[in-house]
Amino acid sequence: MKKTILLVDDEKDIREVLSISLADIGYEVYTAANGEEALRVFQKFKPAIVLVDIKIPGMDGIELLRKIKHINPDTEVIMITGHGEMDLAIKSLKHEATDFLTKPINDDTLQIALERAYARISMRKELMDSNKSWAMYDVLINELIQEDVMVIGLGHQILDINDTLLKKMGLKREEAVGRLCYEIIYNQDAPCFGENYYCPIKHIHETKQPAQVTHIRRDKDHKDRYYSVSFYPLFIEGEVVGAFELSKDITEDIKFQKIMMQQDKLASIGRLSAGVAHEINNPLTTILTSAMLIQEDIDPDNLIYQELETIANETLRCRKIVASLLDFARQTKPALKLYNINDIIIASIALTRKQAAFDDVTITHDLAEGITDVHVDKDQIQQAMINLIQNAVEATDSGGIVSVFTKPVDQTSLPWYYKKHFPPDEAVEITIKDTGTGITADIMDNIFDPFFTTKESGTGLGLAITHGIIERHAGYIGVQSEQGQGTTFTIRLPVDKGDQDGP
Ligand SMILES: Nc1ncnc2c1ncn2[C@@H]1O[C@H](COP(=O)(O)OP(=O)(O)OP(=O)(O)O)[C@@H](O)[C@H]1O
Ligand SMILES: [Mg+2]
Repeated sequence: MKKTILLVDDEKDIREVLSISLADIGYEVYTAANGEEALRVFQKFKPAIVLVDIKIPGMDGIELLRKIKHINPDTEVIMITGHGEMDLAIKSLKHEATDFLTKPINDDTLQIALERAYARISMRKELMDSNKSWAMYDVLINELIQEDVMVIGLGHQILDINDTLLKKMGLKREEAVGRLCYEIIYNQDAPCFGENYYCPIKHIHETKQPAQVTHIRRDKDHKDRYYSVSFYPLFIEGEVVGAFELSKDITEDIKFQKIMMQQDKLASIGRLSAGVAHEINNPLTTILTSAMLIQEDIDPDNLIYQELETIANETLRCRKIVASLLDFARQTKPALKLYNINDIIIASIALTRKQAAFDDVTITHDLAEGITDVHVDKDQIQQAMINLIQNAVEATDSGGIVSVFTKPVDQTSLPWYYKKHFPPDEAVEITIKDTGTGITADIMDNIFDPFFTTKESGTGLGLAITHGIIERHAGYIGVQSEQGQGTTFTIRLPVDKGDQDGP
């Protein structure tokens, strides 16, 4: 944009000479011979700089200065004074003139005064721009970005922190700014390090490039939560002085991915096992019947009879495993009928109570009254319940408790990815909670795998079968466990409202 200037002087010669000098140094020049004319030109062209002779006829220079400043306080007004008019010059400065020049005006001093005026204009513009970008920044980090945002200096000190994160930490801004990020977020007295807590600040300083890491943070219930943390370098005059840190809680996404992976894995193992189990079942039957047939011709006291007995028993054991495997792999649809889930649970508890009593474990239940009936295959759900209760009893020491709860749940507020998979808004939740040994984190990903067992005589098929059953009911099964504290399995079964009134 061309620089504009208004020159106000009643002497025509001065107007002409100065106009030429100003045009030479790149100005678009407007002129006026008196105050009134000057105001009209000023209003029309809005020049950024005005050069005013302090002594003009009619409205004097100082009056004109005041009026211009009133119209636009950002205008740079330079006064032109004669010798012996120092008091007027000073008065004009009090009225916020930028500068004054004494006649006769020499080109150098004129240029210096104009440069100074222009520097003030650009500084003001920069300030305004930066104010604008600070306002933008404020809106951005506090309103638009719903993630946790911190601005951190190279020495890990918090330069700024957004409302979302402050709210989460229960802190006021002034309590966080100036403190160290690792102190606030991790309660540590040294910067983060190691695989799960890599701090890329140094790397960003050196490379000036953004970085992304995953951090594991403990929430207030001491549960691990996964955060994807993005760092963007913060530049001031080309130098990296810190970083913007954006953290996003991805715990639920990771959980969901694991569920999906689990389902894929089980589906393929299921297909494979079904084939193998089917193939093995027939030869096993042949072995069993052959052993029994030979036994018929032999005296029970004969040693061979005993050996055949072992063959028959071991074959029976194999058949049991194969039967469980077929159970696990069974791809047939459940025969759905409307049942009150509480009735199935009471039956399952009745069937497991004896073993529990033997192990000195108490099974308690707290079942929600008036719970909506659900469409289920009673035998399959009962088998799933028995598997879970049995596991809970087996994990619990003498004197421990296994509790079973049911309650209706409203799934409307579930994240979209769960909803996509478990669409109904209404579900029945069954919880089986024990006070047992808990499940260590290193085996948590394997417990649903077929044949995964930590028990000497376990087949490792109980949970795999249970998982398959719940999946075939379009339900959800999840587990939470704390080593030494116990384990909670949660199942959700969809309530199909459409069929409730059916026969
Ligand atoms: N409530 C629980 N508490 C602690 N660990 C459990 C619990 N439920 C399951 N597990 C762990 O998961 C493993 C797999 O369980 P799953 O029911 O599939 O097989 P299993 O119980 O070992 O064998 P089976 O069910 O054939 O007797 C168990 O061996 C155990 O380590
Ligand atoms: Mg089991």
